[in-house]
Order: sequence, then C-alpha cells, then structure tokens
Amino acid sequence: MKIGCPKEIKPQEFRVGMTPDAAREAVNNGHDVIIETKAGLGAGFADADYVAAGAKIVDTAEEVFAKADMIVKVKEPQAVERKRLRPGQVLFTYLHLAPDPEQTKDLLASGATCIAYETVTDDRGGLPLLAPMSEVAGRLAPQVGAWTLQKANGGRGVLLGGVPGVSPAKVLVIGGGVVGTHAAKVAAGMGADVTVLDRSINRLRYLDDVFGGQFKNAYASAGNTIALAREADLIIGAVLIPGAAAPKLISRAQLKELKPGAALVDVAIDQGGCFETSRATTHQDPIYEVDGIMHYCVANMPGAVARTSTQALGNATMPFMLALANKGWKKACADDKHLLAGLNVHAGRLTYEAVGVALNLPVISAAEALKI
Ligand SMILES: NC(=O)c1ccc[n+]([C@@H]2O[C@H](COP(=O)([O-])OP(=O)(O)OC[C@H]3O[C@@H](n4cnc5c(N)ncnc54)[C@H](O)[C@@H]3O)[C@@H](O)[C@H]2O)c1
Repeated sequence: MKIGCPKEIKPQEFRVGMTPDAAREAVNNGHDVIIETKAGLGAGFADADYVAAGAKIVDTAEEVFAKADMIVKVKEPQAVERKRLRPGQVLFTYLHLAPDPEQTKDLLASGATCIAYETVTDDRGGLPLLAPMSEVAGRLAPQVGAWTLQKANGGRGVLLGGVPGVSPAKVLVIGGGVVGTHAAKVAAGMGADVTVLDRSINRLRYLDDVFGGQFKNAYASAGNTIALAREADLIIGAVLIPGAAAPKLISRAQLKELKPGAALVDVAIDQGGCFETSRATTHQDPIYEVDGIMHYCVANMPGAVARTSTQALGNATMPFMLALANKGWKKACADDKHLLAGLNVHAGRLTYEAVGVALNLPVISAAEALKI
C-alpha cells in the first residue's frame, strides 16, 4: 500500500501523523511511505530522518493525497484537504465529526473511507488513541500550573515542592481519570501535597490501591470540592462525562473563597471547562485573571510538547496503521471490532451512530459498511 502523510495545516498544529519510526515499520512491512517535505519539522523530525527510514519525500500535499491509498494525519482534514480525498482512499486521523456538520458533509461527498482515532476502542472500555493525549495533558498540567503560580505570571508566588522548612503547595485535582491520575503523579513527584477527587468509587478504590502512598483521594461531593479548593494553591480540572459538556464545579461566586493568586488549570476546557469562569486560551496567551484567581485554559495542551505528543500518538496508532496497510481496511476492520468502532464514514455513508444523532443524518452500521 502507498501510505501518505501530509504536513498539518491547522493553525498551531505542530504534530505530524507519522514519525520516522512509524514510517520505518511500514516500509519494513513492504509498503511505500510518502511524506510531504517539512511535515515533521514542528515535532523535530527532519526530511532526512524519514528518508533514512525508507520513506519518500514529496514537495506538495497535493502529491501526497494524489498518490496515497491511505492518508495518516493528526487533525481533522481542513476544507482544502477534504477536496483532495477520493473514493476508495482511506483517511486515518482525529475527526471529531459530531460538532462539525461541514466536515461531515465533505467527507460523505468525498467517497473516502474515514476512520477516526477518537472512536477506536479497546478491551477495557477505553479509547486507546485518545488516552496518549490525555496522558500528555495530565503530565503537563502541574508544569503549567507551577509556572502560573509564579509571581511574575500573576500567581501566589508559591513553589510546588516547597523547600526544607517551608510547606509544599497544595494541589487539588478534580477528576481522577487518565488526565487526573497523570497530573497527580507528576504534582506529587514535584513534591506537592496532592488530593484527587472523583465521583466514581471504583476509580477512588483504584487510586487508593495504586497511589495511596503518593497522593490522597476524596469523594467529589460539592462540599468536599469547595472545602479542599479553599485550601489549594493549584486546582486542576480533569473531569469528563462522556458525550456531555463538563459540569461546572467551581462557580464565579466561589472564586472569592479561594486563596488570592491561586491557579486554576482547566484541562477539561475542550469540553467547555469545569470552572464557571473558564474560557479557552491559546499557547500564545495562555493565562488570564478573574477576581484575583489565575486561569490557564489551553484547549490543545499536547501541542506545547509536539515532539512527545507525536511520539506518543505514533506509538498508539502504529499497530492500527499497520493492520490497515497489511490487510486492507475491510479485513483489518472485520478482524478487529475495536478498529471497526473507528469507522465513521464509508463511500458516502455515515457509519457512526452518535454522529448521526448529533447531526440528524442517516447512519448505517459499520458492519453493514464492510459489505459495500
Ligand atoms: N486541554 C487539552 O489539551 C486536553 C487534552 C486531553 C484531554 N483533555 C480533556 O480532559 C478531560 C479529562 O479526560 P480524561 O481522558 O482524563 O477522561 P477520563 O474519562 O479518563 O476521566 C474523567 C474522570 O472524571 C470523573 N468525573 C466525572 N464527573 C465528575 C465530577 N463531577 N467530579 C469529579 N470527577 C468526575 C470520572 O469519574 C472519571 O474518572 C476531558 O474533558 C478531555 O477531553 C483535554
């Protein structure tokens, strides 16, 4: 198969769909890999790295799309990229179609077969191609929180780990899933005094069993949340209710009860944010102040560490990419129900129920699509 990887063109996107490592694996499996020149630069991969891995560099995205049987990307295709897709071509990338009727319409019109990273599943009920980005955002959260707490940035001027004779900062993590657990581990590793809140007792049991010695946990009742928030120097929002907007867990009125200069890092901002005063910010201008409380609400946190994020995503997508290339998409999806769950669009038909419901469009099952 010819596998193509264009340079990402969405503003502020520095990741790339294939690492040189992934390209090498594909080449070793007998495939041709075509990379647009400079596609990897934002993540620190030079054209020469891909050439050394056996890939071919081409000058334009048009050429990548024209030659490849399968396109591997990071972000949803932009309008100009969607026009380049054709029937029979496979697109493997993040799509997030439910809130995006324009993209859905174009992908249906393209006739291509579109497999979305975010809906691929695993045996434990997880989303294996979303998890690496949650891991990155979670581990980054204490780092950006520590920076936000610095005096020059408007914060309390508190060092997360304290020093001998001075108590460490108190960090409250709301939501103990993938983001929250990674945030708590890193904050505890930096020497902070960390508590994680969650509403799932099973999750709290897990956190207690595995991390009981590193950080505390508590049930996320409204009372516990505000009581612990009053004490906190840094609060990390990491909740998720699948398919729903994030619940607002700290109101504007409650900001007065927090320590002046405390920092809120709202990782859940991509789902609307879990603090009432959160609004999405960018890496250029990441923080703002409301009522003396600093807010960090960057919606694409993994972009700050494009190299690590690209490598983490590449590791997770690689086995699926290889299965699609080695077997062809139909057999790969027929053999693996988790990859089949990623199928969103095929030959002009929508194949993912939740997208159909969100956009009020007809849907056929992914299993039916295998017969077309
Ligand atoms: N900003 C970014 O760049 C970025 C990057 C990755 C993920 N995210 C977002 O981070 C959020 C968390 O993702 P995740 O992968 O950790 O999800 P997850 O499903 O692994 O964890 C979410 C946790 O929140 C808990 N929860 C739900 N409602 C709660 C409540 N009211 N109080 C306390 N806990 C509650 C759940 O029990 C679960 O343990 C999501 O909104 C995700 O989209 C953002």
